[in-house]
Amino acid sequence: MSGNFSSLVNEEGSRVSRRLFADEAVFEAELEQVFGKSWLFLGHESQVPRPGDFFRTRMGDESIILIRGNDGEVRAFLNSCRHRGLPICRQDKGNAKAFVCPYHAWTYASDGSLRGVPRQSQSYPDGLDKSKLGLVPVAHMANHRGLIFGSFDPDIIPLEDYLGDMAWYLDCHLARAPGGTEVLGLQRWEIDCNWKMPAENQIGDVCHGPFSHVSLFEAAGGIDQPAVTSVVDNGVNVAVPNGHGCVVAGMNEPERELGLGDPSASEAISGHFDKYKAYRVEHLGALREHLDLPTATVFPNFSILGRNSTIRVAHPISATRTEMWSWILVDKAADPEAKEAFRKQYQVTFGPGGMLESDDGENWSGVMYGARGSQSRKQDYVYEMGMGSDGPHAELPGSVGHTFSEHTQRGYYRRWRELMSEAVI
Ligand code: FES
Ligand code: FE
Repeated sequence: MSGNFSSLVNEEGSRVSRRLFADEAVFEAELEQVFGKSWLFLGHESQVPRPGDFFRTRMGDESIILIRGNDGEVRAFLNSCRHRGLPICRQDKGNAKAFVCPYHAWTYASDGSLRGVPRQSQSYPDGLDKSKLGLVPVAHMANHRGLIFGSFDPDIIPLEDYLGDMAWYLDCHLARAPGGTEVLGLQRWEIDCNWKMPAENQIGDVCHGPFSHVSLFEAAGGIDQPAVTSVVDNGVNVAVPNGHGCVVAGMNEPERELGLGDPSASEAISGHFDKYKAYRVEHLGALREHLDLPTATVFPNFSILGRNSTIRVAHPISATRTEMWSWILVDKAADPEAKEAFRKQYQVTFGPGGMLESDDGENWSGVMYGARGSQSRKQDYVYEMGMGSDGPHAELPGSVGHTFSEHTQRGYYRRWRELMSEAVI
């Protein structure tokens, strides 16, 4: 059977085949066409501050070593020995001068070069060109305000061009205090869903909030409290070229809304925002001083939930299984009380024990189960909400619309379609 996967999404991105959420043939093609041709998040620079610091991360289905070399440069390599492919790095993180493969002890330096092969003169009497057998480097690396991205595609456009206007929005969060951000910790868990569900939810699915999360909102003070209405009624959804998008809040609210979380944390967080207000005006301008990003997704699978102090990646395991990696992200300049407050804000809402996360995860699984039925999978999913209602905005870049609109998802799936247009079944 041959065919083109791009036919699974219509031109507008408003109708999407259920095969995208449960079909292993689609998943296999995505590994090459989507994950092989995009910029992917690898980690935060605060995770590898010193020479030799490493973090075992992922890009698509690949295990990756992110490591700062002795020269201070951060590099990334496939975590795969050149001899028989074993992962040479088994620890989640640490500091290492070298990695020794557990099978036959080939040894690699922190710059990825192959340094040692046991009994080399005896084993390879005709010589072994070690200079050609270093770890395979990720083709391109780039850093946007502490976020380290990599791409397998040697021809990928520069990260800043790839992000485009998305950087303007990301910086509302990443550049809101001196010194940028740092991560406090990482949580990982698996979930029965397709990897695109977290991404498409966090790119701008405000419309599920008042209904799916109603129990938390009511427990936290009512559905009409400012933390909710400031997003639902006063926020906007923004679609940015290359499949990115976000929910922006605070347009008409010079006083920052803090989002849901531990009420005891509010004072420390308010104080933090007050302390750096002048900094934000100077570095971000009068408008972005009080804009924030409740949710945002950088295509294909990196998201930031600004009001909940987290960045996350939905790593693909299979068409129906995803591994979530979720970091707590705080402003580096924040005092210890504020950092602790951000941590609490995250823990109450997101992560495996977070009240919002558990609601969302159940929905994402439901979307996947809905894509598996022998009869139900014949029907497309519908992304027509707010068709034609988004457009240019006087102050905000990208295509801006109200929060009960799926134009961010349509942009996401149009990008998916574009990348998958080369794939054949
Ligand atoms: Fe790594 Fe043989 S597989 S040394
Ligand atoms: Fe949600």
